[in-house]
Amino acid sequence: MTMDHDEIRNALQAMRARDLPTHGGRTLAYVYDSGLASADAIGREALAAFASTNGLDPTAFPSLLQMENDLVGIAGRLVDAPDGFAGVVTSGGTESILLAVLAARDARPDVAAPRMVLPTTAHAAFHKAAHWLRVEPVLVDVDPATKRADPAAMAAAIDDRTVLVVASAPSYAHGVIDPVEPIAAAAAAAGVRCHVDACIGGWVLPHLRDSEAGQLPWTFGVEGVTSLSLDLHKYAYTPKGVSVLLHASAELRRTHLFASARWPGYTMLNTTAQSTKSGGPVAAAWAVVHHIGADRYTSLARDARQATLDLATAVDGIPGLSVAAAPDSTLLALVTDDSCDVFTISDEMLERGWFVQPQMRFRDLPATLHLTFSAATAASSDLIATDLADATAAARAAGPAALPAELVAMASAIDPATLDEATFTGLLAAAGLAGGDGELVLPERMAPVNALLDALPPELREVLLLGVVDRLARPTPPR
Ligand SMILES: Cc1ncc(COP(=O)(O)O)c(C=O)c1O
Repeated sequence: MTMDHDEIRNALQAMRARDLPTHGGRTLAYVYDSGLASADAIGREALAAFASTNGLDPTAFPSLLQMENDLVGIAGRLVDAPDGFAGVVTSGGTESILLAVLAARDARPDVAAPRMVLPTTAHAAFHKAAHWLRVEPVLVDVDPATKRADPAAMAAAIDDRTVLVVASAPSYAHGVIDPVEPIAAAAAAAGVRCHVDACIGGWVLPHLRDSEAGQLPWTFGVEGVTSLSLDLHKYAYTPKGVSVLLHASAELRRTHLFASARWPGYTMLNTTAQSTKSGGPVAAAWAVVHHIGADRYTSLARDARQATLDLATAVDGIPGLSVAAAPDSTLLALVTDDSCDVFTISDEMLERGWFVQPQMRFRDLPATLHLTFSAATAASSDLIATDLADATAAARAAGPAALPAELVAMASAIDPATLDEATFTGLLAAAGLAGGDGELVLPERMAPVNALLDALPPELREVLLLGVVDRLARPTPPR
């Protein structure tokens, strides 16, 4: 069915109206808002102008290669990359991480069953890499107070099957920088690569260095760091679809480059996972990075950092709520005492116009509320503190989300390895998530569902949520 221009525009706007806002600083996960309308405008202009170009062949579109090389150069200088470093522009943090793991694995063909050593706080993208690339993750608990990786335990976990050791700067879940120096030293002593995941911190922490002398070292300046990921679609405030993976040398990158001449078509030559690759995001990133510039990045980073610290201070005065770990960057994780739960606070905040992200417990780490601060949130620091205090008071008045014992028993009895459609449908009905004809209906308030999932083991959470995604992602029936 064709639609005219106005109909299409109206339909797109109507669909978009149901999304979380990307601008205004009230969505504290997923999106990053510089608050600079001019940066958004120039990014959108470049995105549109290069949308149809193709990074598949750098000789056909040399503009894209030039912009990628420029961005890799700028990123490398931000994170003290050594002479001779090399990098690639990817579609996002997860792709950068997949490639770092692939490069590390394939550099060690002598290891039949490779492993990587991860702090428990390493981003889930490493678990995806582990799963896709068949590299066994060896999880090491973090310090329960600081939530930083435990370097001695990480060193002890390295063995002759280890192909990669990972640290975060900072971790997404708690916003703390791992002690990269001892971790990278242990990796180097064992002859193993060390990746620093600075996907979220890579463009913000360097701009805070001058004002924060105590920042733990985490860049290529640390001996033993062999690769580092940093995302531009986060704190470089560029449109989505751009991350950079840097290697200390071109040789270290070699094992994730790919060529295939084994067919009668063009020789496929790829530096990343994508082959056809829109030039739009790269051009947009190039435009935004040059528009904002180092000085303004510094002031944006300081605004976001100040907002983070201000809220951490305000949380001290909110009964029932506290900071899970002292924040090293622009992310905050909050925990509750027994009087309430993070899931109800998240619902209460949504009613007040804020999206804060609930994070479930894992091993000894309790459930938390995650807040990613953008520069644009700084203007509303007082408001968010007031609303968080109100939301927490409401959550305390309601008490922790009640979990019907039969429902928990029913869910807990499920074996994640054998969950079938009928059992899943029965569970949805028992949890009040099934409509008249059995279809999935998500509730307005998510706390009861999140609290139930939080009470279940991670493997079970995974299959249940995959069941939800599977039911959500179905073709629209013909109208
Ligand atoms: C530390 C860290 N690593 C990796 C990622 C994954 O990045 P992406 O969502 O761009 O794939 C994120 C995303 O928030 C992150 O914070």
